[in-house]
Amino acid sequence: MDVVLQIPVAGASKSEIYQDVKRDILAVLDGEPNRVARMATCVCLLSQAFPDWFWTGFYVVDEVKKAQGTDELVVGPYNGTLGCLRIAFSRGVCGAAAAQQTTQIVPDVHAFPGHIACDTRSNSEIVVPVVNARNELIAVFDVDSEQFGTFDEVDQAGLEAIMTAVFAA
Ligand code: SME
Repeated sequence: MDVVLQIPVAGASKSEIYQDVKRDILAVLDGEPNRVARMATCVCLLSQAFPDWFWTGFYVVDEVKKAQGTDELVVGPYNGTLGCLRIAFSRGVCGAAAAQQTTQIVPDVHAFPGHIACDTRSNSEIVVPVVNARNELIAVFDVDSEQFGTFDEVDQAGLEAIMTAVFAA
C-alpha cells in the first residue's frame, strides 16, 4: 500500500478533519471490493482522527434473518468496549436509523426511548444509515461519546459523505 496518511493538522476544523479522513479512506480502499475491509478501514481511520470517540463501528443488516422475514442488525467491525451483538430494527438508536433510514443525532442517550446501553459511559450518539449503490440498506454506522451533545450537523454531513463514497459509489 503506497498511501501516505495525513495526520489531522492541529487546529483543523471538524469539517476539515472529515474531508481529510474521507480522502485517506478512499485512497487506502482504492481497488478493494471487500465490504469487511472497507468497514474496518472506516472504523480505524475515523476513530484515530477523533480520539475522543468512545465507540465507533458498524451494525450490519443480517441477510440470513432478512431472508427469514426478520429485520435485525448484527455487530460488524468496531473500535471500543464490548458492543451488543444484535439489535432489532425496532430497538434503540441503531434500530431507528435502520428502520427509518435517516441519521439519528442523540444529544442525551438517556432521554432516547429504547436506547440500548451497551456501555453505561455512553452519553451521546450519532447513527448514520449505510446503503449500497442500489440504495439498499446494508448497515448503520454508530458513534458513541462519553460527553453529552457531541454530535451535530457537521458530523452528520461528514459521516454521510464518507458512507456514501465508500459504500454507494
Ligand atoms: N446505543 C446503541 C446500541 C449500540 S452501542 O451503543 C455500541 C443503540 O441504542 O442503538
